[in-house]
Amino acid sequence: MAEAITATEPTRRDFLYLATAAVGAVGVGATVWPLISQMSPDASTLAAGTLEVDIAGVPVGQIMTVKWRGKPIFISHRTPVEIKTAEDTPLNELKDPATDQSRVQKPEWLVVIGICTHLGCVPLGHEGPYHGWFCPCHGSVYDTSGRIRQGPAPANLVVPPYRFAAETKLVIG
Ligand code: FES
Repeated sequence: MAEAITATEPTRRDFLYLATAAVGAVGVGATVWPLISQMSPDASTLAAGTLEVDIAGVPVGQIMTVKWRGKPIFISHRTPVEIKTAEDTPLNELKDPATDQSRVQKPEWLVVIGICTHLGCVPLGHEGPYHGWFCPCHGSVYDTSGRIRQGPAPANLVVPPYRFAAETKLVIG
């Protein structure tokens, strides 16, 4: 005799509903990421999983978003203008001072965790006066280095641990 499905067992319909809800949430620009996951990730959490990403197909001027350990990761293939603007920014103009060079391994690739450091929304790429990211939740503005420039966010977008395993292969984590 087949076992009855109890209330505690997820049904296929439940799964489909949850999967749809998850896709829907990621698809909305103003998604609020759970606050707990946007705070400084601790070392043990970051070390627990890696993600290999082929970046060969990302054209100059485009941003690829991937998901790593439940977080959106923005991989920005920066244009020469975006790089120069980020490098030439005086540190005394920054709320959370950091040189562009300290935030990238190769100038043409910026890799950051795509979670606003204010309250956890997912910022929109190529938006705002600095053409970096704009967070629609409360108006925080990030530059092409992911550094906070305007609005209530206190800190720059976080750079996750990553390395280039090959010219166009990134390993995050
Ligand atoms: Fe981004 Fe508030 S969560 S500005």
